[in-house]
Amino acid sequence: MLAMIMLHTALAGCSGAASKPTTVQPDKKQSELDKLMRERMNKVFSTLIFQVFHAEGDLDFAMANKNAAELQDVVTSVRNLPMPPMVTSDEAKQVFFTYNDELKHQAEKFVDAVAHRDRPNMETLLTNIGQTCNQCHHFFRLDIKDAPER
Ligand code: HEC
Repeated sequence: MLAMIMLHTALAGCSGAASKPTTVQPDKKQSELDKLMRERMNKVFSTLIFQVFHAEGDLDFAMANKNAAELQDVVTSVRNLPMPPMVTSDEAKQVFFTYNDELKHQAEKFVDAVAHRDRPNMETLLTNIGQTCNQCHHFFRLDIKDAPER
């Protein structure tokens, strides 16, 4: 509870500073989360989808393992970023964290499935992960045009 309050205060401080028009940085329009989503989340997820569902030949488990670790790392990073502009209320914040926690949980299970070379489970988990991406985007009314699908 205390952590939530502190987090809230910190975030409120952040958004206050960000709305001041005086110090404009070159790429401030794009939120840190947007950048992370585009440059890391989407990239690693697309790579995994391709590897697991579409690549020819044997699955490269060492590579899958590397990507699974990256996915887990990206999901963890989301927690430490400032809230994106569309997360405007405490309720929205709860929803945001709930989806992110769900993704974190699924990413952990995926890392496990790769370690066990459990391909059917990897496929199921990747499909579920894709649904969590979509659910969060849908809740925040984001129209993700280039979101990968299996
Ligand atoms: C906890 C909620 C949440 C989850 C889960 C989530 N995203 Fe996002 N995503 C967002 C938000 C919020 C933005 C917009 C950020 C902004 O514009 O500031 C975004 C933006 C994006 C974008 C940029 C789209 C654009 O056109 O601006 C891509 C691509 C993306 N997400 C891919 C993914 C993928 C792939 C996954 C799952 C592996 C995923 N996201 C999981 C909340 C989420």
